[in-house]
Amino acid sequence: MKYLGSMKNKDGVLEIGGILVTQLKKEFGTPLYIYDLDLMEKKIKAIKEGFISEKFKTTIVYASKAYLSKGMVQIIDKFGLDIDAVSAGELHTILSTKIDAKKIHMHGNNKSLEEIELCVKNNIGSIILDNRFEAEKVAKICKIFDKKINVMLRLNIGIDAHTHEYIKTAKHTSKFGESIFDKDIIKIVKEIIEKEELNFLGFHCHIGSQIFDELAFCEGIKTMVKFTKEISQNLNINIPEINIGGGFGVRYTDDDTDVDLKKLMKKIITSLEETLETENFKIENVSIEPGRSIVAQAGSTLYSVGGLKKTFGGEKYIFIDGGMTDNIRPALYNAKYESIVANKLNNEKKECVTLAGKCCESGDIIIKDTKLSKCDEGDLIIVSCTGAYGHSMSSNYNKALKPPVVFVKNGKSYLISKRETYEDLIKNDLLLEDI
Ligand code: LLP
Repeated sequence: MKYLGSMKNKDGVLEIGGILVTQLKKEFGTPLYIYDLDLMEKKIKAIKEGFISEKFKTTIVYASKAYLSKGMVQIIDKFGLDIDAVSAGELHTILSTKIDAKKIHMHGNNKSLEEIELCVKNNIGSIILDNRFEAEKVAKICKIFDKKINVMLRLNIGIDAHTHEYIKTAKHTSKFGESIFDKDIIKIVKEIIEKEELNFLGFHCHIGSQIFDELAFCEGIKTMVKFTKEISQNLNINIPEINIGGGFGVRYTDDDTDVDLKKLMKKIITSLEETLETENFKIENVSIEPGRSIVAQAGSTLYSVGGLKKTFGGEKYIFIDGGMTDNIRPALYNAKYESIVANKLNNEKKECVTLAGKCCESGDIIIKDTKLSKCDEGDLIIVSCTGAYGHSMSSNYNKALKPPVVFVKNGKSYLISKRETYEDLIKNDLLLEDI
């Protein structure tokens, strides 16, 4: 396992943020999501330092679906980033903090009236319309509340980025956005700009997630700039913004490239500046929406070993006290992770084992066939790079309690979310009255 951020070997025990994982286990128990605050801040800074231009303003919008909690919103706010939401639940979480509502941008391919109302009433920064019908709904709600709201239109630009099938979003068959190839696209934009309740800012696209291919981003930029110029000329309007989404790839294992975020951001800026120059076109503001690239590597999950098993068929299992309920990604996307026996770092890695969770499901495997040092019941396993889409996609399957989240930095720990309780699991259940 590659040591990420502040991870250190302290006499054979892993330390993160200046705290031994044995200490974290004592204080918070396992399974436990640990976020290395310093590493998260470094990622944010790298993006901020790289994504600036003298030719246009830039906005970084954190894609909160990657990992969201009130504490996370505080960090995002501290660094002056904007934040997005895709549901009333995310919106509610964000609004429950002190962040300025103008920094919130609402996504979603099927926003409910309740969600749109929440956006309008709270005067959020913008709504990213998914389609022509949503423009109608938003305008209607604005009229009721006598408000005007900024909107962008999400486009499907037809870029087929190389990533996992389930997280590709810009194929022609994707459910997201309006296609730039749609024969009615100009009409759709015209209808939006004619609605006086809507202040049309420009276009949005997101070509997928976990993308390493820089050319895919450059292609996306070219398509977006050309399209924006065409529409601006065709309708004779000023289009001040484009948003090119997120999706910047992250190294999970040696199979992935290690991405230098600042460099990647600079490349994207260069591509934008060059394209705007070639097209002789001006944009006032360009936004990006990184999620994974900010939080993935900062997060690790700490588990305790409950037991070991060698099956008749020869498979050696290490049973951990979490699994697919706190990290569904291996089961869902065949996602790969690295791990280590966190309290036996100096021992030789000689066992090829499979890390299995405790759910009643054969597919509840976090890592298949990984080399670890020999471990026993009570040892600690750390799985690295679980910070994105781990906690946010966690579930209560088998009535598992969602683990707590702790941020660590400079020897201090900050409990961000408490472990769920058994009472939490049944608080919404009601007993039948007549039975
Ligand atoms: N913007 C939009 C419109 C998005 O749909 C997404 C992610 C992002 C930004 C952030 O993408 P990121 O920078 O995090 O790659 N559950 C999957 C990932 C789904 C991504 C959904 N949209 C996973 O665990 O890999």
